[in-house]
Amino acid sequence: MSFPTDRPATWFVTGTSRGLGLELVKQLIERGDNVAATTRSTERLRSALGDGIDTSRLLPLAVDLRDDESVAQAVHQTVERFGGLDVVVNNAGYGFLAAVEETTDRDVRAMLDVQVVGVWNMLRAAVPVLRRQNSGHIVNVSSILGLTAVPGWALYCAGKFALEGLSEALAAEVASFGVKVTIVEPGYFRTDFLTKDSLALPAATTDAYPAIREMTSNHLSLQGNQLGDPVKGAAAIIGQVVSGAGPLRQLLGSDAHSYATAKVDALRANLDATTQTAAATDFRTA
Ligand SMILES: NC(=O)c1ccc[n+]([C@@H]2O[C@H](COP(=O)([O-])OP(=O)(O)OC[C@H]3O[C@@H](n4cnc5c(N)ncnc54)[C@H](OP(=O)(O)O)[C@@H]3O)[C@@H](O)[C@H]2O)c1
Repeated sequence: MSFPTDRPATWFVTGTSRGLGLELVKQLIERGDNVAATTRSTERLRSALGDGIDTSRLLPLAVDLRDDESVAQAVHQTVERFGGLDVVVNNAGYGFLAAVEETTDRDVRAMLDVQVVGVWNMLRAAVPVLRRQNSGHIVNVSSILGLTAVPGWALYCAGKFALEGLSEALAAEVASFGVKVTIVEPGYFRTDFLTKDSLALPAATTDAYPAIREMTSNHLSLQGNQLGDPVKGAAAIIGQVVSGAGPLRQLLGSDAHSYATAKVDALRANLDATTQTAAATDFRTA
């Protein structure tokens, strides 16, 4: 894919009234690019952007990402308004902190509806546009918790691990159409992610998981002290897309890099420990 240099690029970003999505929108407007920005509240997006920003290249879209039709309509409106589509950033997401047994059926469906079904709805609408024009870039914002899992984050990890698998397969599927895929894996970033507005908690808990309750209160009080700077995070994502370079996975934050390294080391040790036993189930070849 070659990122357009002879005209403003058109970006489609999901989840934009706060955090990383909002910062992406601000920086893309600043670059002079076109931005279709989805949110559940265009009012919240407008007030977060404030008055001093030129919104002539912004298309705010009230979209329910869980609704196939709503998403398809938003992509259609974007192509109509800007004449095409260059980059899709699937950014919307939220955290959920609870033990597996405290997580209800409704909690599971709600999370996967946003993190998996919502992204899939976006891809079903956007991939044909990018494929036909033989260029484009899809950025799926996962997490370091899409690579490694920790207690209390099972549902969030389930959604992000699913997103990683989907993205890896997609990257190989669309490469021959000139469409690139990047999986972004942030560590802790100083957005609204750990506030009570964003971090969902279980309706009922048991007293069997004091470590998870302690982790919940530690995470809520971490707000404002996370290592990652969303201004630099958004700039790094834009930089990788504009350059067209970079590997499939874009780790953001030294914390994310350390967690990923530990995961790879553990996986390597696990592989080495199972070389013999894995081979033992093969049919004998003559
Ligand atoms: N901050 C971190 O520490 C961190 C670490 C790893 C990964 N991430 C990932 O980075 C992405 C951006 O998060 P952030 O850090 O910017 O958090 P944030 O400040 O809480 O912003 C999250 C955005 O996602 C959207 N969103 C939240 N819940 C949603 C729902 N139920 N349905 C649809 N949209 C929803 C919101 O969009 P609207 O309100 O405008 O609809 C909001 O703008 C997420 O995918 C998150 O999982 C964040």
